[in-house]
Amino acid sequence: MTLRAVVQGVGHYLPERIVPNSEFEKTLDTSDEWIRARSGIEQRHFAAEDEATSDLATYAAQAALKSAGLTADDIDAVIVATSTPDLTFPSVATMVQDKLGMTRGFGFDVQAVCAGFVFALTNANALILSGQAKRVLVIGAETFSRIMDWEDRSTCVLFGDGAGAVVLGAEEGTGDTSDRGILSADLNSDGRYRDMLYVDGGVSTSGTSGKLRMQGNLLFRQAVEKLTTTATNALEKIGLSDDDVSWIVPHQANIRIIQGTAKKLGVPMENVIVTVHKHGNTSAASIPLALSVGVEEGKIKPGDLLVTEAIGGGLAWGSVVLRW
Ligand code: ACO
Repeated sequence: MTLRAVVQGVGHYLPERIVPNSEFEKTLDTSDEWIRARSGIEQRHFAAEDEATSDLATYAAQAALKSAGLTADDIDAVIVATSTPDLTFPSVATMVQDKLGMTRGFGFDVQAVCAGFVFALTNANALILSGQAKRVLVIGAETFSRIMDWEDRSTCVLFGDGAGAVVLGAEEGTGDTSDRGILSADLNSDGRYRDMLYVDGGVSTSGTSGKLRMQGNLLFRQAVEKLTTTATNALEKIGLSDDDVSWIVPHQANIRIIQGTAKKLGVPMENVIVTVHKHGNTSAASIPLALSVGVEEGKIKPGDLLVTEAIGGGLAWGSVVLRW
């Protein structure tokens, strides 16, 4: 028997306020047509002023617990992937614990920007396989609207707020790739690329929270190549190929990156979960949001082989192969 970390529940939360591309036409030299054509984005959600990342994360966690038929008492650990925490510390994860009424177990945040959920999922898998935890809530939650420079048309039209969560639980498997659960992961980062995407403020430098800066076209080229390589590596580690993939659940930054990567991987777009048009780029929240929407729409079904892949600031990038 082999221990596996299996997704037992999934859920998401999107703030009420929907912002269509046309809103940006009022203040910036941009158009709905440009944003749709270059990014695939039609709208995004922005959190209310009194809504913090931990609120979004908690709502998503509650939805995931409900779908798993579990309560906070059944959870041993909470991992939140975020780059937009409520405060510098404590972690969003401990705030979520409190909001869920969870007084035992432990929580911590993972910061790998848009690749955060893939890193968090891999951490959660390791905690389960090592016996540190039996059930882990893995959450991606972001309020990127708070770090936008509203005068920079090349970035502020691309991002949105939201949260998604999964409950990952220990189950016995046979040890082969027909098992449900996380089957393989591939993580990477390379700090030489840090100027391509960063926030120009921080505790030990400016003492401010800063605004997002991005060299989008340079990043674009890195993205397709690195996402294809990481997904291929994760599949090859367990002797699988693109032919075995039921769904690619990619980070949702840009429809052209999603299409370019799917093409290089040899997976048709019918087998790719796409939410970027409705959510924009929600950074670490985008993959769990896409998982939740994919299940809600009846696309992702038990037994399907999923490949998640993401790249973000750092650069940090990676992928996880799992059977739903
Ligand atoms: N409206 C109109 N014109 C615009 C806008 C806008 N909102 N933004 C930029 N432009 C202009 C530029 O100024 C430029 O004009 P110029 O040619 O006169 O200089 C022109 O459009 C083309 O700009 P590019 O940056 O070359 O456009 P590109 O086709 O590369 O699309 C985009 C830009 C959408 C940002 C794309 O590069 C991209 O998606 N990059 C990757 C982003 C990404 O993957 N992020 C992932 C990680 S995010 C994270 O980790 C937080």
